[in-house]
Amino acid sequence: MRKLSPILFATAVFLASAIADIQFDIPEPNYDVSSSAPGYKIDGDVVRTKSGLEFPLSFMGDNEEGRDLYGKTIDDLTVSVDFEAEDRLRVLIADKEGKQIPVPDSPLGLERSKHDRAARKRNYDFKYTENPFGFQVIRKADKSVIFDTTDYPLVFEDQYLEISTAVPKETNLYGVGEVVTNFRRDNKQNVTTLWNRDDATPFYKNIYGAHPYYTELRNGKAHGALLLNAHGMDVFFKEGRITYKIIGGVLEFFFFVPKDAKPNSVMQSYTDLIGKPFMPAHWMLGWHHCRYGFKNISHVNWAVDGYEKAGIPLETIWVDIDYMDRRKDFTFDEVNFPEESMKALSHRMHSNSQRMITMVDPALSTNSSYEVYQRGKEMDVFMKNNDGSEFVGQVWPGYTVFPDWWHPNITEFWGKEIIDWVKLLDLDGLWIDMDEPSSFCLGSCGTGKQDTWPDLYWQLDDDKAEALIAEWQEAIDSYGNSTPGDSRNLLYPKYRIRNGYGDLSFRTASTNSLHYGGIPHYDLHNIYGHAEGEVTRQALLKHKPNERPFLLSRSMFPGSGKKMGHWTGDNHSTWEKLKISIAEIFNQHLFGISYAGADVCGFNDDTNEQLCARWSALGAFYPFARNHNNDVAISQEPFLWESVTEASKKALAIRYSMLPYFYTLYEEAHRVGTGLWRPLIFEYPKDNEYLDNDEQILLGSDILISPVLYENATSVENAQIPPGVWYDWYTYKAVEGKSSVSLDAPLTHIPIHVRGGAIIPLKTSAYLVTETFKSPYSLLIALDHKGRASGRLYIDDGHSIEQEGTSDITFEYHNGVLKARGTFDYADAEKLDTIKIIGCTDDLKTANHKGNKFQVSKDEHGAAVVQGLDIDLTSKFTLTFH
Ligand code: GLC
Repeated sequence: MRKLSPILFATAVFLASAIADIQFDIPEPNYDVSSSAPGYKIDGDVVRTKSGLEFPLSFMGDNEEGRDLYGKTIDDLTVSVDFEAEDRLRVLIADKEGKQIPVPDSPLGLERSKHDRAARKRNYDFKYTENPFGFQVIRKADKSVIFDTTDYPLVFEDQYLEISTAVPKETNLYGVGEVVTNFRRDNKQNVTTLWNRDDATPFYKNIYGAHPYYTELRNGKAHGALLLNAHGMDVFFKEGRITYKIIGGVLEFFFFVPKDAKPNSVMQSYTDLIGKPFMPAHWMLGWHHCRYGFKNISHVNWAVDGYEKAGIPLETIWVDIDYMDRRKDFTFDEVNFPEESMKALSHRMHSNSQRMITMVDPALSTNSSYEVYQRGKEMDVFMKNNDGSEFVGQVWPGYTVFPDWWHPNITEFWGKEIIDWVKLLDLDGLWIDMDEPSSFCLGSCGTGKQDTWPDLYWQLDDDKAEALIAEWQEAIDSYGNSTPGDSRNLLYPKYRIRNGYGDLSFRTASTNSLHYGGIPHYDLHNIYGHAEGEVTRQALLKHKPNERPFLLSRSMFPGSGKKMGHWTGDNHSTWEKLKISIAEIFNQHLFGISYAGADVCGFNDDTNEQLCARWSALGAFYPFARNHNNDVAISQEPFLWESVTEASKKALAIRYSMLPYFYTLYEEAHRVGTGLWRPLIFEYPKDNEYLDNDEQILLGSDILISPVLYENATSVENAQIPPGVWYDWYTYKAVEGKSSVSLDAPLTHIPIHVRGGAIIPLKTSAYLVTETFKSPYSLLIALDHKGRASGRLYIDDGHSIEQEGTSDITFEYHNGVLKARGTFDYADAEKLDTIKIIGCTDDLKTANHKGNKFQVSKDEHGAAVVQGLDIDLTSKFTLTFH
C-alpha cells in the first residue's frame, strides 16, 4: 500500500474540521527538471504537405542520459505543421506510433476543421531549428517572435511532456485557467495547474475547468496560444518563460495571429477554432434566483413572492438538489418537494411568463431500488473499474456510478432520462453540476456497499477521517496502477502536477477507472464535464429542436462555451470574491464562454447587507446574473434588506432597459467571439495604464461600469475613464477621458458611463424580460467631441435557433441627421418611440421624419428628447433635427 501523501493527509485533516479553502504552499517553480534533457532532432526529410510541413524527430539522448525522466521516453515523433488560416497555425508534435491519447474529435472533444490546403496569405512565419529541434512562430508584420522553444529542450515521454517558450520578461499574459487570480497574470511567480477539481474557489489552485489557452499582449499587440491537451498539467509563467509540464497526450498547439493584433481579434481567431459562444434566448438575460437549502416548496414560493412584492425583477427560479429524494436525480422528496408541488411551481412560473430550472448531477445513486440506475446498468453505460466492475464513487446521494459519455448507449440512456425529466416539469433549462466529476472519496469507495449510506469524510473527526482515507487508499491500490495493456502509472504518475488535493484521484473519479474502449479516466478527466454538456444539450435539442437550450455547467473545456454557460462555482460572501469575480468573468470570455457569472452575494459563508447590496448592483450587469446561496448560510434574498432591494431594483431597471444592447452584444459574441464584458486594456491595448485594471468593466465598447468593491467605501477612487468623452449614465454629466477620477457611489448606486460616440438601443424596463421586449425601442445618442455617434441593434424572435428573418441595424448620427441603415428582415413591427441626445450643443427644436414634425424638448439634465415617434423598424429611415 502506498503511504498517504502528506498533502492528502493535510487535506483530510483540514477538511475534518471545516470545508473551506485549502491552501498549500506552492513550491518554487522548478525549471531544472529537464535541463539535462537532450531534446530531439529532425531525423529525416522535411516534407511539404498540402497544408504545411511534416517531418520526423528522434530522441537525441543515448541509452541512459536524460531518458525516462518522469515516464518512458518516446524516441520517434512526428511534427505536423498546418497553415490552417491566415491567422491560425497548428503545430502538432505527436508520437509516431499514435499511442498517446489526444483530445478526441467532436462531438465530445473538439470539432477540428479539416484543412487540405495551406492558407495562402499568412500573418505568421514558422521557423525551426534542426539539431536540437525547436520552433518559432513569428508575426510577419513586425518580425516579432511570439513563440520560441529553441532555447529549451523538448521532453516527450508517455507520462511527461515538457516544452517551453521564451517570452519577454515584462510581457502581459491573460488566461490559462480556470483559476481564481487577478486578470493580468503575475509574471514573477506563477504556476497554474489544470486538473478539473471540485473545490470552493481557493485562490491560485486548480478548480472546475481546464483552459490551456492564453492571450499575450506585447507593446499593444496581441496573439494567442492554445495547447489542446486534456491531461493534467502545470503551466509555469515566470520571468521570461512559459513552461508546460503535462502528464500525457500530445503537444497540439494552435497559434492565433490576427492581422490587426488586437486582443478582441485574437478572441475572434480563437473562437473560429473552438466554436463561437452559444446565442442565448431573451429570457436567459433576465435575473435568476437560486439557493441550496430551500427547505421545502413553500420556501421556494416564498422567495418568488418576495421578489414580486418588493418589485425586484425575477425571471427564473432555480431548484437545487433539495427537491430530490435523498439527492437522487429525477426524483422528488415526497415530503418537502412532492411532484405535484414542483409541477405547480413550474405552472405558476409559466403562467406568469417566468421560468424554472433544476439541478441535474451526473453521478447516479447505486441504490437497488433506484430505477434510473437499473436502466443505466442494463445499458451498461457507467464507468468501470479495470476488473470490469462498476466504478462506484460517492456524491450527494451516497454511493454513485458515473455515466460514461463515451459509451455508445449513452445518448439513448441519458437522452431519455433528460427528456422525460424536462417534460415532466416543463423545465426551461438544466443546471449540470459536479461534473469534474466530483466524488467525495478516493477510488471506487462504494464497491460492495450498495444500499448503505456513507459518511462524509469532512464531518468525521481527524482519526476517523484518516482511517477512512487509508481504507480507500488500500482499495484503490488493489486495482493496480495500470490497466491491461497499459504500462503507465495511472494512479501516481512520477511527475506530480500541483493538484490542490495532491492525489489526482481524490475527490474525483480515479485515474485508473475506465471509459468505453478501455480508455482510462486519466486521459479524459478534463473533458468529462464538457462531454456531459454535449450529450445533455443534444437531448434538449431533440426535445425542442428549434429552441435555444439552456445549460449551465461547472466544468468546462475549450469549446464548452458553444454549448453552455458557466458560473464561477462556490465563491464566498467576501469582498475579495466580489472583486475577483470581474477577472473571472473576463477570463471566461477569453475562453470563449460568453454566458458567465458568479454567485451574487456569495455562496459560502454568511453575506451581509452592505456586501449584498454592492454585489447585487454589480451582479445586475453580469452576463449571467443569478443570486445563489449555500444551505448553511443565512438567507440572502435581495428583498430581505431595504438597501439590497433598492440597489437591485435600480441596477436591474438599468439592465432591463439595456436588454437590446446586451442582446446585440450576445449576437456579436455568437457571431464573432468577442466578450460582453471587456477589460479596458482589450479595448485600448496601446494604453498601458489599463494593463492591470480588473476593477472596471466595459460592457461592449460603450458602457463603462465602475463598481464599489471595497467595504465601507462610498466612492470609487481612481476610476479610469478611457479616451474620448464619457457621460454619467444618471446625470449625463460629461467626463473627459484619459483621466482618473473619483466617483461618488452611495450604497445603492453603481457608477456607469456611456461613451461619447455611442448610440445605445434601449427598451422600457419592466418586471419581466418578455414585457420589457414588448415595449418600443428608444435610442440614447451620446455625442463625441465632433458631434458624431453610431451604434448597432440586432433583432430576432429571441428564442428560436432558425430564424425566418433578422434585422441588423446600424445607426449613425451627425450634423443633426440620424440615419438607420442595414438589413430589416425581422417581420414583426418593432417600433422606435423615443430618442435622447446627450452632449449636444445645438439648440434642437424639431425632428422631422417623412414629413412629420416632432417637438424636441429638454429633460431635467439638459438632454434633447423627442418622443412619440412611432417609427417602424422595418426599413431604413432618416430623421433630421433642426
Ligand atoms: C455544488 C455547487 C453549488 C450547489 C451545491 C448543491 O457545491 O457548486 O452551486 O448549490 O453543489 O447542489
